[in-house]
Amino acid sequence: KQSRICVVGSANIDLTFRTPRLPQPGETLAGHALHQGMGGKGANQAVAAARLGASVAFIARVGNDAFGKSAIEAYQAENIQTSCIRQSVDQPTGTAAIMVDDNAENCIIVVAGANAELNAEDVKGASSLMTNSQVVLCQLETPVDAAVEAFRIARAANVLTVLTPAPAERVTAELLSLCDVCVPNKTEITAMTGQTIETEADALRAAERLRDRGVKRVALTMGGDGVFVVDETGSTHIPAVRVKAVDTTGAGDAFTAALAVSLAEGMSFVESARRASAVAAISVTRIGTQTAFPTMSEVNQLSRLEENVCEA
Ligand code: RIB
Ligand code: NA
Repeated sequence: KQSRICVVGSANIDLTFRTPRLPQPGETLAGHALHQGMGGKGANQAVAAARLGASVAFIARVGNDAFGKSAIEAYQAENIQTSCIRQSVDQPTGTAAIMVDDNAENCIIVVAGANAELNAEDVKGASSLMTNSQVVLCQLETPVDAAVEAFRIARAANVLTVLTPAPAERVTAELLSLCDVCVPNKTEITAMTGQTIETEADALRAAERLRDRGVKRVALTMGGDGVFVVDETGSTHIPAVRVKAVDTTGAGDAFTAALAVSLAEGMSFVESARRASAVAAISVTRIGTQTAFPTMSEVNQLSRLEENVCEA
């Protein structure tokens, strides 16, 4: 049976510039290539979940412009329910300028545009999409009021709430108190807790600080260092799947979406994080964000490959 996911959050057009190295201030650098694709943390999570076979609804704002129109069409092509995506009149569709170098390092500038207009009223108007879902996903490239409203509606209906706290400066105490699963990276967990992450003990301490504030489970994503998961039963470190990284943009979104889909399918937290790591690993081997997200059959193929490697 299909799992049901609702995403509340940002939609951007991603312009990815591939470059030998990142430029210095004042420098003009010749790049290798330009890729245009759909991005934004919210849209990325919606598309990643849909590729994995979930039934997905997306609540968002785009501009009344060509980018907004093509974004909505792209989501529809992924079978995402788009009836609650509004087109803002005064603001353009969000845009991200992404630079990725030959070592897969990146720099990103995001101009929020219409994303900044997503509000609690938009979310209230879409409450049936959330109460009909098993999991509601939020990030913070859209106003925190919208996320708080989404989590209130979800919690009242016993729907699992999953937060990507990015950017972390926007997180509020109320939002954390409504959060079942929080998926920060190292920078974000440090911003939220003041704890820098060098060792596993640091990771555990930081996660426990989030749990003190009401978060039930934490999945700390650490790129090549894997994922550290903490819940009431204890903590587990999951090593990263070894791949050649080309572009890591959106890997956290792929992870979060896969985690949500797996939890909705009834998998345990640790097993869900394991599968989500495989999904994120595939996504970093390809350029772009949504263009890089795998289908469930690709994920199963990778898992089979890994099993063979273990047996050999
Ligand atoms: O998380 C990756 C996303 O962050 C990109 O798609 C870009 O749009 C920025 O919002
Ligand atoms: Na990628």
